[in-house]
Amino acid sequence: MTSPHGLRTEHLDDPIGLCRRAPRLSWQLPAGTRRQSAYRLAGDNGWDTGWVDSPDSLLVPYDGPALRSAQRVTWRVRVRTDRGESEWSDPAWFETGLLTPADWSASWIEPGSRPTGSAGARPAALFRCEFDVPAPVVAARLYLTAHGLYEAFVNGTRAGDAELAPGFTQYDRHLQVQTVDVTDAVVSGRNAVAVLLADGWYRGQIGITRAGDQWGSKPALLAQLRLTHPDGTTTTVGTGPGWRSNSDAHIRAADLIAGESVDLRRRPGGWDCPVFDDSGWDAVIVADHGFDRLVDSPAPPVRRVEELTPLSVTRVAGGGQLVDLGQNINGWVRLTRLGPAGTALTLTHGEWLGPDGDLTTDHLRPDLPFMPYPLPAGQIDRVISAGAPGETFEPRRTTHGFRYVRIDGHPDRLSVDDVRGVVVHTDLRRTGWFACSDDRINRLHQAALWSLRGNACDIPTDCPHRERAGWTGDWQLYVPTAAFLYDVAGFSAKWLRDVAVDQWPDGTVANISPTAPAEGRNSPIAGLNGSAGWGDAVVIVPWELYRAYGDTRILRDLWPAMVRWLDRAQGMAASGRHPARATVRPVPGPHEKYLWDTGFHWGEWLEPGAEADDLVAFTALDQGHVATAYLAHSATLMSRIADVLGLVDEAVRYGDLADRVRAAWQAEFIGDDGRLTPDTQATYVRALAFDLVPAQMRGAVATRLVELLRAGGNQVGTGFLATPLLLPVLAEAGHVDVAYDVLMQDGEPGWLAMIDRGATTVWERWDGVDAAGVPRDSLNHYSKGAVISYLHRFTAGIQPIDGEPAYRRFRVRPRPGGGLTWAEGALDCPYGRIESSWRLAGDELQLRVLVPAGTQAQVVLPGGRLLVAGPGRHEFTARLADDLVTVGR
Ligand code: BGC
Repeated sequence: MTSPHGLRTEHLDDPIGLCRRAPRLSWQLPAGTRRQSAYRLAGDNGWDTGWVDSPDSLLVPYDGPALRSAQRVTWRVRVRTDRGESEWSDPAWFETGLLTPADWSASWIEPGSRPTGSAGARPAALFRCEFDVPAPVVAARLYLTAHGLYEAFVNGTRAGDAELAPGFTQYDRHLQVQTVDVTDAVVSGRNAVAVLLADGWYRGQIGITRAGDQWGSKPALLAQLRLTHPDGTTTTVGTGPGWRSNSDAHIRAADLIAGESVDLRRRPGGWDCPVFDDSGWDAVIVADHGFDRLVDSPAPPVRRVEELTPLSVTRVAGGGQLVDLGQNINGWVRLTRLGPAGTALTLTHGEWLGPDGDLTTDHLRPDLPFMPYPLPAGQIDRVISAGAPGETFEPRRTTHGFRYVRIDGHPDRLSVDDVRGVVVHTDLRRTGWFACSDDRINRLHQAALWSLRGNACDIPTDCPHRERAGWTGDWQLYVPTAAFLYDVAGFSAKWLRDVAVDQWPDGTVANISPTAPAEGRNSPIAGLNGSAGWGDAVVIVPWELYRAYGDTRILRDLWPAMVRWLDRAQGMAASGRHPARATVRPVPGPHEKYLWDTGFHWGEWLEPGAEADDLVAFTALDQGHVATAYLAHSATLMSRIADVLGLVDEAVRYGDLADRVRAAWQAEFIGDDGRLTPDTQATYVRALAFDLVPAQMRGAVATRLVELLRAGGNQVGTGFLATPLLLPVLAEAGHVDVAYDVLMQDGEPGWLAMIDRGATTVWERWDGVDAAGVPRDSLNHYSKGAVISYLHRFTAGIQPIDGEPAYRRFRVRPRPGGGLTWAEGALDCPYGRIESSWRLAGDELQLRVLVPAGTQAQVVLPGGRLLVAGPGRHEFTARLADDLVTVGR
């Protein structure tokens, strides 16, 4: 028997800098194992659990000797299973960070003279310090964080590979510390630590309003180097009075939105190495920004994840050279040919070309009703070369959403060899794959995948250019799809931590997390917060994480926020009425106590043909049908979450609330003729997805949805909220053929129209590029890409089963259709790899399934035959008879 493998700590591989006192450990069982009956965990710190009778192999809390700061624990596991007792696994490790404020001897420092200018146009500051290391060093760790974005160097070597550190959080409450192993960079004798500090999210421009200085006006740095000597003693060097700063060096401006400007002629040569004369630099200001907000990150860091070689570099009018990466990405370019000293280059980034074949960015300019003119799109880098051999430009303090970059000012003809597209995002672990016989569907899948990659930049963003904001609704509707592609557990948990602290005292969940004051509770647009379908992220995202990863702690952590959100919604339902309803029905019906029809709601949002031109009229709309539906849905989920958490009374209470709200929805929105109000695709989709109609009506509701789709030539009529649910509800209701017809139709609105018009990421709007080729709004929004979860869950047929978190039991039920002759899906679930692949041979379906150790699959074949498959590979053949039998949801 082989041993357990795939050891992880929390949701990370061998994490460094953890601040949890009881980190949770996971492992995968030896191949072929059906079930674990006991485990034994041991660490090199004397920890040994002995044999523990338990089937648990996911997220088992460490319970050994109390962890100290800066302690590495190497651990192993062995298991008893139906196949006997395993050997010890290969070791894995985790290392703690600085666990308490008392561990910090370093002081916060600010540059001696503050980099000035307006937000978006401020230089980065350089900091440095030299020190002697008299004794040999066996381990060195650098602990760092900043108000701004830092990049650190030890003796000229970059510390770590994280980008955009310390990451984006609600800085008033959470500030992430990175722990970097710099053992190889430290030497005996003279050493230097050097840090570049730019404005970043903390102080630079942010969001759709391009507001600056949102968390403070002063950049600041905190760094502590801990050196361990052979005899176990340690030396600590930290930021403090001895440091020097320079706010007028080569990074002339650095801003996440505007871009970066660098004058390489001004780079102080050798500034990041020892023996540099910094006597002309400023003495730093020692500041007190405290240590209480310091946290680790449960997510992997942002990194340079991939490099793309451009497809072409062509000349455009005005002498510019247009680089086409062939793929819309989040990141920047690296330019390795900068021209002779003094050459000034401008790099403008965008997603689409105008009719003249040149770059256009107009569609990315925020055009807000309360502002006199559209704000700049930003995304412009500038560099002046110093003419040094091997000189490169890579703007690591900004990011751009782009496929094209126009380079102006270059005296030479550039080639594809001179430029690389550097893809930058949270370095999530890929866990899911899909491919099928239809190339356009594969390209749609790729586009949806790239939209997630383009919008996972320490937080889930709506788009990587115009707003870059952590819109709650967007992640709510995409997280189930994301969990089919990447491990988003730690990434989401990190974001939810801020969603919870951004919640208002009255329970309002902010539109965006982290919330910048310019869009927060005291801003002119405060009233746009608290929308149904957006705020419900506080319930839905934890629930989806629990389903995909079996993480109950996230449910427990978010429970208080969920309760406040539902209390607010319930209170609003009970206390207010929409004026339109009050006019039509002066005396409220008894059900209206549970009808949530007040407050602002985005509603279905961007529903084709129903877009609001007038913001005031839009904010006054009655969105009761959407808000009440979400209240019923969230109450249902909370009842189930309460069950998981063992909160017996709450489970009953929220179950009862869900029933009442559902009854209110039925009383208000089901007409005598069985039609729903409003009679739109989205309403029928939601009614089916959220179980809003009585069981005996489901068939008729699905039939009406099909009628609406057929009447519209199978074109999608849903907006933001219902689009991810559209194909699944059709398939669940027995209309797999319709689901495929809608997926495969190539008119606008529809997914394939995007692909046919050249999308390499998914557009915010169905007409993101219209038939005439004109771009509108963002071309990189993942929301509509949520359709691809249909490909994983229905086409390939890999489905979680309710009540079986982390795929301990799952279903494989492929639904061929749409002319596909084969399809393959795979998912690295927490227990291991699931695969489902099928091909058609005549009227037969040949299915291969891989079931990971410790799990069990219910395989449902066409015709409804149900088979149970244990760990290992299986092959099935079935006649493509009518697929009529529906197995319980
Ligand atoms: C964002 C969205 C967001 C929406 C709210 C937009 O500007 O880009 O993705 O959810 O506003 O409706």
